[in-house]
Amino acid sequence: MSLVYLNGQFLPLEAAQVPVLDRGFIFGDGVYEVIPVYSRRVFRLPEHLQRLQASLDGIRLPNPHTAAEWTAIIEQLIARNEPDDQYLYLHLTRGVAKRDHAFPNPPVPPTVFLLSSPLATPAAAVLETGGRAISALDYRWLHCDIKAISLLPNVLLRQMAVDAGAMETVLFRENRWLTEGAASNIFVVKDGGLLAPPKDQLMLPGITYDVVLELAAANGIPYQVRRIGRDEVLAADELLMTSSTREVLAITELDGQPVGTGLPGAMFRRLYALYQTFKHEVMRG
Ligand code: PDD
Repeated sequence: MSLVYLNGQFLPLEAAQVPVLDRGFIFGDGVYEVIPVYSRRVFRLPEHLQRLQASLDGIRLPNPHTAAEWTAIIEQLIARNEPDDQYLYLHLTRGVAKRDHAFPNPPVPPTVFLLSSPLATPAAAVLETGGRAISALDYRWLHCDIKAISLLPNVLLRQMAVDAGAMETVLFRENRWLTEGAASNIFVVKDGGLLAPPKDQLMLPGITYDVVLELAAANGIPYQVRRIGRDEVLAADELLMTSSTREVLAITELDGQPVGTGLPGAMFRRLYALYQTFKHEVMRG
């Protein structure tokens, strides 16, 4: 039977309950991580725990666990769930308190929740043809580097894509500067090189984003990390999206127009292959 972790206990999902005054429920006051597990091994755990710490610092919530404690919880959760490939959802809120915007004083224990789900990597069809995306104004706040559970803008922006029959919404600040996708990072391919927006407060520092840039560096693929204008995205030879659950995907149509040839390109195939090799090497230890 699959079990979740809630505040020190492993229990069936149906039995896991949080009081309605939890600040996650009332204010969206918390942070999260999504961590892939391949062959029962956690992908890039130190990096995910570091980003979690940065998110916690960003919302001024003390980390209730050491890295060793998180690792122990995560290993037990993986062992208590069926599939070899899982994705872990790790969620922390500022805890349960009388409704008041300001932090509870004295502080209350945070709510800690972890869930394992089967990890399904993208279907062969989308790897072959790529997927459609739309673009939209990035109207989110100025701390998108914090992996906050208050995701209403991301939810609305992703739904715009779904309503348009697309897989992602590509976001532009001031309608001019590429930031990221509603739930992914975006890369531009031009003249055989990669362009990536900088990891600043306007985007989530993706773990997959880092892996892609490391693979580019290690394999002699030229890349630049810099602000990317909307015109450059529209003139791209290829567009790529990355995330822990979708790995690397080609965006082959943007706002109804083909990207480059309208088919996944050479850079996509190269990075996809490098990513798979890396993943299998890392997972075999
Ligand atoms: N989201 N940007 C945003 C806004 C995201 O939500 C995500 C991932 C990423 C990619 O980050 P990473 O490579 O570390 O997964 C970028 C996860 C998968 C989610 O919310 O489910």
